[in-house]
Amino acid sequence: TGYFTYDPGFVSTASTRSAITYIDGDKGVLLYRGYPIEQLAKHSTFLETSYLLINGELPSAAEFSVFEHEVTHHTMMHEAQKNFLNGFHYDAHPMAMLCASVASLSAFYHDTLDMDDPEQRRLAAIRLIAKVPTIAAAAYRSSIGWPVRYPRNNLEYVTRFLHMMFEVPSEPLDLNPVVAKALDLLFILHADHEQNASTSTVRLVGSTGANPYACVAAGIAALWGPAHGGANEAVLSMLTDIGDAKNVASAVTRAKDKDSGFRLMGFGHRVYKNFDPRATIIREMTHKVLADLNIKDPLLDVAMALEEVALKDSYFVERKLYPNVDFYSGIIYKALKIPTEMFTVMFAIARTAGWVAHWLEQQVTPDSKIGRPRQVYTGSAERDYVALNKR
Ligand code: CMC
Repeated sequence: TGYFTYDPGFVSTASTRSAITYIDGDKGVLLYRGYPIEQLAKHSTFLETSYLLINGELPSAAEFSVFEHEVTHHTMMHEAQKNFLNGFHYDAHPMAMLCASVASLSAFYHDTLDMDDPEQRRLAAIRLIAKVPTIAAAAYRSSIGWPVRYPRNNLEYVTRFLHMMFEVPSEPLDLNPVVAKALDLLFILHADHEQNASTSTVRLVGSTGANPYACVAAGIAALWGPAHGGANEAVLSMLTDIGDAKNVASAVTRAKDKDSGFRLMGFGHRVYKNFDPRATIIREMTHKVLADLNIKDPLLDVAMALEEVALKDSYFVERKLYPNVDFYSGIIYKALKIPTEMFTVMFAIARTAGWVAHWLEQQVTPDSKIGRPRQVYTGSAERDYVALNKR
């Protein structure tokens, strides 16, 4: 490996110091700023958790009220961004629209592009948390040909988002509080996860001094892939393809066959080798949400059968492959009537809190350097150019 440590996928490389999120993958522990995910899931809200991730401490009532006011104040999308969204073909994936639109924020907000000014950095973070849900809902609505709804700032964060998604002009949205609560909880669970692929991407781009909107757009692009945030969408199509609990055994057999190119989506994790604590919370929540909303979804039966068969199978046991956060989240999103192509967008809204927290932390980390990995060169030795007529 020459002079460098060869570590494909950065399995054993710490790329930074960070005080935001702690994971113990063997014990299934996840802490945001020291607080167990189970406690935050039970007692906190997504907006409060965002404050915690960014600022390091839970807010006092007064601090929270200022933060909430600021986020609410910045929820509007620039009117010209609607033209931008309108330029997409009708069947554009909302992740494509979100990624491009978030990058375009840097073209709208020149007052937050000075990375050396802490106030500009803070304002950019607020803008991102405030505007990503607005852009996400607008992307969805333009993808189905509906007029964009403006954010109703008399509502709370998640409820406001659901109104932007589903409200129809002059028809009040009959929103079941179970739906808003469930979405808020999913957002808490997805808010941060230390140096995952998208957050590492945000930091790598951030290390060059690029603006925060560009950094978060890069994070959204990294999140899109099925090995990362795209898994929730992939799980739902996998469960739909399996279709019935009686087909589970053959799906498990196929997932064990490396030549099949098929993996159990929503299974396995780079860090968790015991269980994913978020999956434990989501599994319980899925049953409760479906019961509360009086929904009987046959995909839940398929998911439970799949989990049961896989967890008894020596292939999955030996490799310590357990359901991860995305195994059940798609079933809940479906129950909340979130369309499948929006699942990864949901993840992006939540993870924006983590991305901006990491970006802000990076700006004040004294030993931050440009991210510049080396490689193990496997190409040709030096050789002489051969003229075209001699090749
Ligand atoms: N189904 C079947 N086999 C699997 C799976 C799976 N889902 N995941 C890992 N394996 C096997 C893999 O083939 C390998 O076997 P062997 O040692 O015989 O070569 C072994 O388990 C280790 O896998 P790996 O690919 O080296 O592990 P990794 O840490 O590089 O990848 C992962 C982690 C999450 C990308 C992977 O488990 C996976 O592709 N899972 C399915 C996609 C998924 O659910 N992603 C969401 C992750 S959690 C939320 C998020 O991060 O966004």
